Amino acid sequence: MAAGAHRRQMAVFLAAALFLAAVLLLQAANAADAGVTSKYRRKLEATVDMPLDADVFRVPPGYNAPQQVHITLGDQEGTAMLVSWVTPNELGNTTVMYGGAPDRMDMQAQGIHTRYDYFNYTSGFIHHCFLKNLKHSTKYYYAMGFGHTVRAFSFTTPPKPGPDAPIKFGLIGDLGQTFDSNATLSHYEANGGDAVLYLGDLSYADHYPLHDNNRWDTWARFVERSVAYQPWIWTAGNHELDYAPEIGETAPFKPFTHRYPTPYRAAGSTEPFWYSVKLASAHVIVLASYSAYGKYTPQWTWLQDELANRVDRNATPWLIVLVHSPWYNSNSYHYMEGETMRVQFEQWVVDARADLVLAGHVHSYERSHRVSNVAYDIINGKSTPVRDPRAPVYVTIGDGGNVEGIANNFTEPQPAYSAFREASFGHATLDIKNRTHAYYAWHRNQDGAKVVADGVWITNRHWMPTNDDGDTTH
Ligand SMILES: [Fe+2]
Repeated sequence: MAAGAHRRQMAVFLAAALFLAAVLLLQAANAADAGVTSKYRRKLEATVDMPLDADVFRVPPGYNAPQQVHITLGDQEGTAMLVSWVTPNELGNTTVMYGGAPDRMDMQAQGIHTRYDYFNYTSGFIHHCFLKNLKHSTKYYYAMGFGHTVRAFSFTTPPKPGPDAPIKFGLIGDLGQTFDSNATLSHYEANGGDAVLYLGDLSYADHYPLHDNNRWDTWARFVERSVAYQPWIWTAGNHELDYAPEIGETAPFKPFTHRYPTPYRAAGSTEPFWYSVKLASAHVIVLASYSAYGKYTPQWTWLQDELANRVDRNATPWLIVLVHSPWYNSNSYHYMEGETMRVQFEQWVVDARADLVLAGHVHSYERSHRVSNVAYDIINGKSTPVRDPRAPVYVTIGDGGNVEGIANNFTEPQPAYSAFREASFGHATLDIKNRTHAYYAWHRNQDGAKVVADGVWITNRHWMPTNDDGDTTH
């Protein structure tokens, strides 16, 4: 072969090799950037409610025994607890005795009670009692049911709000009362959190004819084993509406508001559906997807004031927003239902450097990269989510396992903002270590076991605003 031809051949070969290398590099870069749609598939089986005679729904023994015991924070700072329960036969006693030891419940608080009718259902006597002036990080024992059957429980108050106060949250949404729901709750209990951030849709009683409110009762008995011992922070979902004009039930949220009070007044709110609490180093804002949030509405006004005047990242560095309907959702189920609220509030949460926006509603799991979509101004055409280190991570965790089943129809291709998604049931934990770092993990229900399928270190947007979160461990 002539030397010239050989050189030409070598040049062609080198050019081809360089092109191939460039293509491989590009593919690798894309692969590192692309989101993951998990290949795991839960066993195809029906998601069915546990029967009314299931052991988890058992009525506690004894005449008029208190049942459905649950607690939530009673104020903004964690020095009050709101204790609720139901007595089935008669009003009985609304007193709660409490103290530092099981045999030293030497303090008492007097509660109030309520009842409601829902079509052909009449509730039991629903008691609510504030325990005030509690010390932080302190275990209290409490009991109620005096005069008939006494039941006793305990809780530990959260740490005093402070920049490095650790706390471990459970994140649960759309739980319902199926066998899968029971697995989810058991897995959370095994993981051992301090409080639950609940993303809405509790009992799914409205799945039944006439919204059979007995299923509100069974749900509350089912979750008592956790929520009687640690506060759950409630977000209202669409299954709390119980709006049924066809049977004359036109007052939205009737069962929910009678049963699940929130400390909204302490947060300067005027409705129980949007409010905030401080737990350790976290400032948690609860928003309401099913209440008005347009400009000048009470929720809009409250949130504006909350972000401007009541969030102090030096005192509580972690800013976490709870809402039922997700703003970022790449599942065909409930697709874009959260869009109007995103348009209304996304700029605010980006400006506020919120760390996380947690949602439920969609019965699968999804976590986003840090993205925002706030550039659009009707003429510039910029309506695509872009990577934005100022923005929160969005998590959809409506995968508690309720009777409606799994949302297994993701949009394809996976959008660039979506980091990980999977059509399974489960729950997550958010383990806040200090002002800068929290470990977030999603625990899939896998054939009766819990498996960490998605985990990531989250860095705080106030203290590490430019740090690119990474280290996923799926
Ligand atoms: Fe929902």
